[in-house]
Amino acid sequence: MRIFTNVKDLGDLKIALNEAFEIKKDRFAFKHLGENKTLMLVFFNSSLRTRLSSQKAAINLGMNTMVLDINQGAWKLETERGVIMDGDKSEHLLEAIPVMGCYCDIIGIRSFAKFENKADDYSEKILNQFIINSGRPVFSMESAIVHPLQAFADLITIEEFKTKARPKVVMTWAPHPRALPQAVPNSFADFMNEADVEFVITHPEGYELDPQFVRGAKIEHNQEKAFEGADFIYAKNWSPFRDDIYGQVVNIDLSWTVDSRKMNLTDDAFFMHCLPVRRNMIVTDDVIESPRSIVIKEAANREISCQVVLKRMLRSL
Ligand code: CP
Repeated sequence: MRIFTNVKDLGDLKIALNEAFEIKKDRFAFKHLGENKTLMLVFFNSSLRTRLSSQKAAINLGMNTMVLDINQGAWKLETERGVIMDGDKSEHLLEAIPVMGCYCDIIGIRSFAKFENKADDYSEKILNQFIINSGRPVFSMESAIVHPLQAFADLITIEEFKTKARPKVVMTWAPHPRALPQAVPNSFADFMNEADVEFVITHPEGYELDPQFVRGAKIEHNQEKAFEGADFIYAKNWSPFRDDIYGQVVNIDLSWTVDSRKMNLTDDAFFMHCLPVRRNMIVTDDVIESPRSIVIKEAANREISCQVVLKRMLRSL
């Protein structure tokens, strides 16, 4: 594996899941693979889970890790070609990327959507510069439009907790005071559409996601109807994809918050969220603290999803 940005990069999902569970049984079994190999994690944006789980996955595989926070201690980077660099940006990404590639074997990138230009965000400008110019295998640690490590961890979690061969998985929009990217719901949809689940998306009008990720998923604008009979409720806020309101906050309707009354409409569903979560905006305290909340197990599986990807990338070196 040289690139990890979407579900197709994993190939057969059953094989990928078996690999994940094999790693989970003994996460140090492949420690020899990463000997004398270095993982570089480059953060243009903040992180808790991705930062720690990716480092832990690398340690499990015997790798060294280097973490670069672009906005804390590194030179400010220009990302546009053709710009006269007479401002506060001292270095161009086109030099910085191959230099980073000199010091490591595999690179992970976190670079959120900027919401300045939809076409730029949806072309994954920064991530693709790394893929093209680093000379190294590259994986997204949540880039402008995808978060595949999260979605793979979510799939592993659903596989672990499901009690039916084909569970009903409902991804619901929920309110948030700030404009959040579409990366998590895009990748969750990407993965669920390939998994053996009944997948339903519920959101207010105006919050339609990019059709390339939604594909054949069922859309239900009535949240309560969508929850009926669900086995998993996956809550997430995202800002609109639609051109005229792209990346804006147009709705903070708290009637979309996931609460126990709505959870009672489900088939005793598990509650999932990628975290960090805003309590009593996205989900009420009682739901996230309930025995059916599996948000911590989900976060723990971030180590496993990353370890599958790193293991495959190490084998490709
Ligand atoms: N879910 C997730 O990616 O968390 P962080 O933003 O803390 O890495």
